[in-house]
Amino acid sequence: MAIAFTCLVLAISIMFWLLRPPLDPYTQSVLSLVGNPTQGRSIFVMNCVACHGEWATGKVGPNLHGVSDRKSDDRLIHQVVSGETPPMPQFQPSPQDMADLLSYLKQL
Ligand code: HEC
Repeated sequence: MAIAFTCLVLAISIMFWLLRPPLDPYTQSVLSLVGNPTQGRSIFVMNCVACHGEWATGKVGPNLHGVSDRKSDDRLIHQVVSGETPPMPQFQPSPQDMADLLSYLKQL
C-alpha cells in the first residue's frame, strides 16, 4: 500500500515536471549568454541602487544578498522584466545586459 502510494506521488511529480511551462524566448536567450558580473555591477548602479542600496543591502527594496538562493534564474529575470511587484519598475534590458545583471545578482 505504502509502495503504491509512493509510486503514485512519484508518477505525479514526474508528470508535473514534464508539463512545466516552457521558458519564454527572452529568458531562453538570456540564459544562453555568458554574463559579465563587472558589467552587471554598472547596470545595477545605474538602475537599481536607488531602491536596493549602493551595495544591494536594501533600502526601499529588499536586501538582495543571497537572493539567488531564494529565487531561480528564470524567477530573477522575471522579477526584473515583469513589473509585477510595484514600486519596482518594469525594466527592459537587452538579453546581454540581463545576463550581465543576472551574473552580478548571483554573486551577491
Ligand atoms: C523603485 C524602486 C526599485 C527599483 C528601481 C528596483 N527595485 Fe527591485 N525591488 C523593489 C521592491 C519594492 C521589491 C520587493 C517587491 C515585492 O516582492 O513586493 C524589489 C524586489 C526585487 C527582487 C526580489 C527580491 C527577493 O527577495 O525576492 C530582485 C531580485 C530585485 N528587486 C532586483 C532589482 C534589480 C536588478 C533592479 C535594477 C534593474 C531593481 N530591482 C530595481 C524596488 C525596486
